[in-house]
Amino acid sequence: MLVPMKDLLKRAEETRTAVGAFSVGNMEMVLGAVAAAEETNTPIILQIAEKRLASSPLHLMAPMMVSAAKRASVPIAVHLDHGLTLACIREAIDYGFTSVMLDCSLLPFEENIQKTKEVVAIASQYGVTVEAELGVVGGNEGDTAEHKILCTDPEAAKIFCRETGVDALAVAIGNAHGNYPVLPSLRFDILEQIDKITDTPLVLHGGTGISDEQFRKAISLGIRKINIATASFDALANASKAYTESVETPDYFRLSALNAEAVKKNVLRHIAVFSRPL
Ligand code: 13P
Repeated sequence: MLVPMKDLLKRAEETRTAVGAFSVGNMEMVLGAVAAAEETNTPIILQIAEKRLASSPLHLMAPMMVSAAKRASVPIAVHLDHGLTLACIREAIDYGFTSVMLDCSLLPFEENIQKTKEVVAIASQYGVTVEAELGVVGGNEGDTAEHKILCTDPEAAKIFCRETGVDALAVAIGNAHGNYPVLPSLRFDILEQIDKITDTPLVLHGGTGISDEQFRKAISLGIRKINIATASFDALANASKAYTESVETPDYFRLSALNAEAVKKNVLRHIAVFSRPL
């Protein structure tokens, strides 16, 4: 069933777990993620970033994601990841997304607060959850530019959450989008401080390549939503490569099933770590 993202964050807080937010770009990814959630009876978030809409248009993805969530036997929230424009955020809300993120993390602090407040005002009319980001997560999310990591300042996070009233805050603690060249050293000391002085559920972006131990530690320090994108895209691409190289004449239907299966496996692996109580 389709649920507000807030509900899943609340449940994660109560159970001291994190909800997995899985990026999708086509039907096979949606099918795979939902199958994993249903098989394990675990709520998840289906998400797509604004930058990804160039290859996976919202008018096609949104109805599919919302419909998949509505028909699922487990609670699923549908989220716009890294929203960059108010127009896209409004469109996602119109399509029935139950959560939106405004990413103004590269703007000056005051501007980030002002723009986030605008989105909170719009979203609250529809009961839609709002995530924002403070600090700079490394790598990129469908962007051409690589962003340099700038860890979130705990005091700034406290002011930001109080001023904007956001439902979830993405923090920068040494995490980055994409594949890490080596296991990252996450600044758990900073995460601990942010968790101590804010009441807002915290979000960890750049989940691909973070170790299970690091996930568990992050969850113990207030992370309630974890984003996974690259690992699912890679799982699908690698499954396609392995299959097409293994047969003389690839069969589309077999390929489609293998793609969904690869994504399901990746989602299963992550939710097993995220949903185990501490
Ligand atoms: P990865 O691609 O590193 O898993 O990051 C996902 C993410 O944070 C999407 O916003």
